[in-house]
Amino acid sequence: MTQLLIEFKEQLLNKNMITMEKIISLSKRRGFVFPACEIYGGLANAYSYGPYGIELKNNIKKLWWEMFVHQREDVIGIDGPIILHPKLWEASGHTVGFNDAMVDCKKCKKRFRADHLINEFVKKDMEGNLEAMTEIFKKGEIKCPDCGAFDWTEVRNFNMMFKTRMNGIEGDIYLRPETAGAIFVEFKNIIDSMRVKLPFGIAQIGKAFRNEIIAGNFIFRTREFEQMEIEYFINPETKWEPLFKEWLKQQEKFTMALGAKKESLRFYEHPKEKLSHYSKKTVDIEYKFPFGFGELFGLAHRGDFDLSQHSKFSKTKLDYLDAKTNKRFIPHVLEPTFGVDRALLVSLLSAYNEEKTKDGDRIVMKFPKKLAPIKVAIFPLLRNKPNLVKKAKDIFNDLKKDFVCEFDDNGNIGKRYRRQDEIGTPYCITFDFDSLKNKDVTIRDRDTMKQERIKIKEIKDYLKDKLNEL
Ligand code: GAP
Repeated sequence: MTQLLIEFKEQLLNKNMITMEKIISLSKRRGFVFPACEIYGGLANAYSYGPYGIELKNNIKKLWWEMFVHQREDVIGIDGPIILHPKLWEASGHTVGFNDAMVDCKKCKKRFRADHLINEFVKKDMEGNLEAMTEIFKKGEIKCPDCGAFDWTEVRNFNMMFKTRMNGIEGDIYLRPETAGAIFVEFKNIIDSMRVKLPFGIAQIGKAFRNEIIAGNFIFRTREFEQMEIEYFINPETKWEPLFKEWLKQQEKFTMALGAKKESLRFYEHPKEKLSHYSKKTVDIEYKFPFGFGELFGLAHRGDFDLSQHSKFSKTKLDYLDAKTNKRFIPHVLEPTFGVDRALLVSLLSAYNEEKTKDGDRIVMKFPKKLAPIKVAIFPLLRNKPNLVKKAKDIFNDLKKDFVCEFDDNGNIGKRYRRQDEIGTPYCITFDFDSLKNKDVTIRDRDTMKQERIKIKEIKDYLKDKLNEL
């Protein structure tokens, strides 16, 4: 009985809260994100983006590229391979250092991140020292979150890179665990071909793979994901602090363009003692997800570590000649990094609204118009009136040349509006009997639900104006 009351109370509290369950359910119901390979029983933490999910994802990537490549004169883009030279990962330190400490429960055989369990149970922040971690587990104070046992294996390192094979190449081949490596190896080609001047950045969007011990929280942590990264090269003698501050501001601006509210964000600066020896500063932009604050994006000062290492391992000069001073030096780098999937999760969470209307409750995804997967939906009032259907189709065929559109003649108008609200379509156009006489249509606004009549020949200009508003 008490349990029932607790559940009922939780349900009431959750009613107006945005929970992961609500987002996951809407994502599946409305074609944003599906659990992958469901017909084979699913594959843990693998997801497919559905028809609206891929539109949203493409819009997020486009917004990023526009903001950080096209709108800037100091950043250029590349697209490098996922499989890179094996030596690159030795140089970057990934083959020996890209590890998570793991521990297995001897009873249920489940595997966990050792540092996470220590942090949770003993409130200690521990990284790196495997023996010290093993000692803590031996004390018997840490309970298996799955089966409750206290019996643990030794703490071991687990390399998170995915190994694969490649014909004709000896040695271990990996899928890249971050996109950054593909940028550093093209530094020389960019210098030689693009007449760039410091400071300048190289941007890339692409897949990355990490064999995470624990993945989860929907698309927050998966083993295959996408990153948008910039390596921003600077003269080691210029003041880096103002540039760092400016990048952080730009990252915040991008986060807000996803629809996030300022109060959902916080900045976490990594303590000095935890920074890698080459890093001067690292800040994570964290977002308040329903499961707590988590890293959304990051910004790191990486010194000259990457270019020096790749220069050493490849025996190639990776320096920059300053035309003014005639001095050669290895630039330092600031690295703003963004996760596409986490950006998409933030855009879903920020857009989600439950509203009471005079016609009942509605869920509406109030995406910024730039990100909305479908911009305009076109309906004939009735599907069994061929003249209405034909005219509505004519409007659809014309508008689809300029906007991402959808034609819908299924069910009643109310249901069609609800469906478009749930996928976040900013405008719905209805062609009705009056339209035949007056050559006009009804346009309904997603957010206000207000409807107005406008002439068919004015639709395009109307939409162009409205969709350009923020
Ligand atoms: N080159 C720097 C770098 O890769 P990171 O903090 O390890 O830094 C950058 O990753 C971003 O990639 C994160 O802020 C996050 O948005 C995203 N990311 C990292 N691991 C992820 C995972 N397993 N699933 C989804 N996104 C992930």
